[in-house]
Amino acid sequence: MSSLHADYYADGLVQHETELVVNEAVAESTYRLRVACPAIAQSCVPGQFVMIRLADVNAPLIGRAFAVWDVLPDDQGTPTYIDLIYLKKGTFTTACAESPAGTRVSLWGPLGNGFANRSCDHLIMAVGGIGQTPMLLLGREALGKQSFGRESGWAGHAEVIYGARRSLLHAGVEAFRQAGFDVTLCTDDGSAGTRALVPDVLAERLRSLEADKSVRVVTCGPEIMMEKVAEVCETLRLEGRQIDCQVSMETPMACGIGICFSCVAKVKQDDGEWDYKRTCVEGPIFDAEKIVW
Ligand SMILES: Cc1cc2nc3c(=O)[nH]c(=O)nc-3n(C[C@H](O)[C@H](O)[C@H](O)COP(=O)(O)OP(=O)(O)OC[C@H]3O[C@@H](n4cnc5c(N)ncnc54)[C@H](O)[C@@H]3O)c2cc1C
Ligand code: FES
Repeated sequence: MSSLHADYYADGLVQHETELVVNEAVAESTYRLRVACPAIAQSCVPGQFVMIRLADVNAPLIGRAFAVWDVLPDDQGTPTYIDLIYLKKGTFTTACAESPAGTRVSLWGPLGNGFANRSCDHLIMAVGGIGQTPMLLLGREALGKQSFGRESGWAGHAEVIYGARRSLLHAGVEAFRQAGFDVTLCTDDGSAGTRALVPDVLAERLRSLEADKSVRVVTCGPEIMMEKVAEVCETLRLEGRQIDCQVSMETPMACGIGICFSCVAKVKQDDGEWDYKRTCVEGPIFDAEKIVW
């Protein structure tokens, strides 16, 4: 009988009703919102997410999952605010984009497992679409610039390979640069960086690194991109390179706390078989070789 055990049940979550402090456009169809939620700001780790919904309307009734983009302090330096970056796409994000500061929202979190903080020489964050959102906190932690109640400063170098359909959709690039990450942009139409796909840029970059360096690749974005990124890493690993790869799955979620099973992905077991795992409590971060794409 398969076990329902997950290492990261949402026992530590808080549910909070608050208001939008900031909600502004930061790129084409892309917005950044800020809410005051000290309990989440003080307990989340990079790669965790929150569920959020508009508090005073019935549609959509179900919350949506968003990675925590940033954690900011109040005037006394206490972590108090969280920022989310979202792409205007469907029901919730369209309604949210039209909501002024002061709109009441309900959110619950922090949710999910977060990225591992395994040490490495190079951290490469390979992201596409709106998949950049979990990476600011991760890279800052890796470089020892922000800590989240666990070891930080575990990478010698941090860089982002960030693909988008076109330049105007890139959001957060300046924050990445300010955090000290090297940033390589690519686009489908060549309007920023190289006209190339993230997995191809990653493959070239990995081959340019000294073979004795340990590399961690983390990826988030369209599933096909993550699958190709995982393939690139696997190919190099088979050639003897020290590369591990973690993916952040973005399967649609209804509850975010392990109850509804709407978020499952096929994940390989130790016996070689696969089983459905709830990405909200057993993920959203998985070692890439465990995913059945
Ligand atoms: C762990 C995790 C983290 C995430 N982090 C982020 C993040 O940081 N930023 C971000 O922008 N998103 C993030 N997402 C995605 C986010 O949760 C939402 O799924 C996304 O914002 C769309 O929500 P929506 O209500 O706007 O769209 P929805 O209305 O839910 O629609 C989603 C898609 O389905 C299509 N659709 C809707 N209804 C139908 C229908 N009846 N038939 C066919 N197609 C339909 C829409 O066209 C759209 O393409 C994350 C997801 C997960 C699981
Ligand atoms: S979203 Fe409900 S179980 Fe994962």
